[in-house]
Amino acid sequence: MSDSKMLHGLEVAKHASRNSCWVIVNGRVYDVTDYLDKHPGGSQILLQYGGKDATSIYEPNHPRGTIEKGLPQSKHLGPVDPATIATIKKPQVTRDLDKTARIPLTHCVNLDDIERAAERIIPHAAWVYFHSAADDLRSLANNKDDWKKITLRPRIMRNVRRVNMQRTMLGQKSRLPFFIAPAARAKLVHDDGELCLARGAARAGIPYCPSTHSTVPHDEIAKVFNATTTSTDSGSNECGGVLWFQLYVAHEKSRTLELIKIARDNGYKALVITVDSPVVGKREEDERYRAELATASGDDTVLTEWYRPQTSDDGPPLRGHHSSTLNWDDLPWIREAWGKDTGPIVLKGIQCAEDAALAFEHGVEGIYLSNHGGRQVDDAPSGIRTLLEIRRFYPHLIGKMEIFLDGWVRRGTDIIKALCLGATGVSLGRPFMYSVAYGDEGVMKVIQLLSEEIETSMRNMGVNSLDQLNPSYVNSKILEMELPDHLRFGAQWPELKPKL
Ligand code: GLV
Repeated sequence: MSDSKMLHGLEVAKHASRNSCWVIVNGRVYDVTDYLDKHPGGSQILLQYGGKDATSIYEPNHPRGTIEKGLPQSKHLGPVDPATIATIKKPQVTRDLDKTARIPLTHCVNLDDIERAAERIIPHAAWVYFHSAADDLRSLANNKDDWKKITLRPRIMRNVRRVNMQRTMLGQKSRLPFFIAPAARAKLVHDDGELCLARGAARAGIPYCPSTHSTVPHDEIAKVFNATTTSTDSGSNECGGVLWFQLYVAHEKSRTLELIKIARDNGYKALVITVDSPVVGKREEDERYRAELATASGDDTVLTEWYRPQTSDDGPPLRGHHSSTLNWDDLPWIREAWGKDTGPIVLKGIQCAEDAALAFEHGVEGIYLSNHGGRQVDDAPSGIRTLLEIRRFYPHLIGKMEIFLDGWVRRGTDIIKALCLGATGVSLGRPFMYSVAYGDEGVMKVIQLLSEEIETSMRNMGVNSLDQLNPSYVNSKILEMELPDHLRFGAQWPELKPKL
């Protein structure tokens, strides 16, 4: 259709169902009917905006050009007459909080303060997305509670005038022992989105691992990261920061290969493959909000679509936004596409000792212990608990691979506990996403607060360097548990043969 023939808003409005779904983005109409089940954010949101102007929800959620590049030309239906868009009923976004009650960043003295401050100023849609977790929030509660079950054993009477907080992670020196975890959709919070995080990591000299679903394209992140590194003293320092690439394996192998190529071409130094999401968890805060939006827009029809039984292997399963077939046999082709010498591979989302052992046997360089911020399966263990499980039942794995973990890390002491127990480094997701509400300054504030807390705690623990930390500095009460026979203490360790 040529640009001279404009569509009328009322015509577009007719296409609002699973049989025919059109959306308007930046004044142009797209037919997304065939794309409904492929949309990483699910079909519901597309249906909710079916026949309507989706620009305001599309823009903060996608890198530029996503829809233009993602849909074949035949689905680009051309411009809509702007004068007729007003005839289309807009979904109402309800419950946005009072944006005037801004708490100054200087009043935030810990990461919880930043979360509370962000809640006041970020759009409710962003808050719900980042805040939500699976089912009854018990995985999330495990993440919060388990830190309290590990106590510290400080040493005294040592000269701690000087402390060194550097840590080498995946072959690169980092100024601090933590990195920015992958989390999608930072543009929901701030127009610069992931760029705030890239600049923060580069300035501070720590790693940043953007999500596959970054709302800023990965090449732009790399450009800004590199420019920031060279323009700050971190560039001339051995701790210049580094970018790692979080990979969601896609339904189509070709898309996964494309993502790996983007990572390689743009100098991402490690591939962090998320392995805990064959389907996306049931995040009820998110689902409730979507239902409220649908009702507010008078569009309750989407709610009748609550269940589509899986009848064949043709389509993705319920909530199957990424590959649901990913398994250990996929690692060789992923490794080949990434390249033997491009950099390390890390598996993110390991939740038990047996899978840690399998990861080692499959030759990966790192494991990332995580229950995905409590967003996948409920009643899953915290990262720190899985680390204790590995220590106790597969102690011979410690030191063989790098070990990272996340899960409600909020304090310098949490980081110290993880390092004592054998973690190479830890990561934080939500606190950084909330900090983006305050742009670059917010991100730097989180890094500064954690850095101060680590430094202070190191002195009060009697250590000068993170390498001195070991299990004798902690006392853990977590592992009172029933385990399968093959993991009982004293069982024969299986012989490990890494396939390197
Ligand atoms: C993505 O990783 C999410 O948890 O939403």
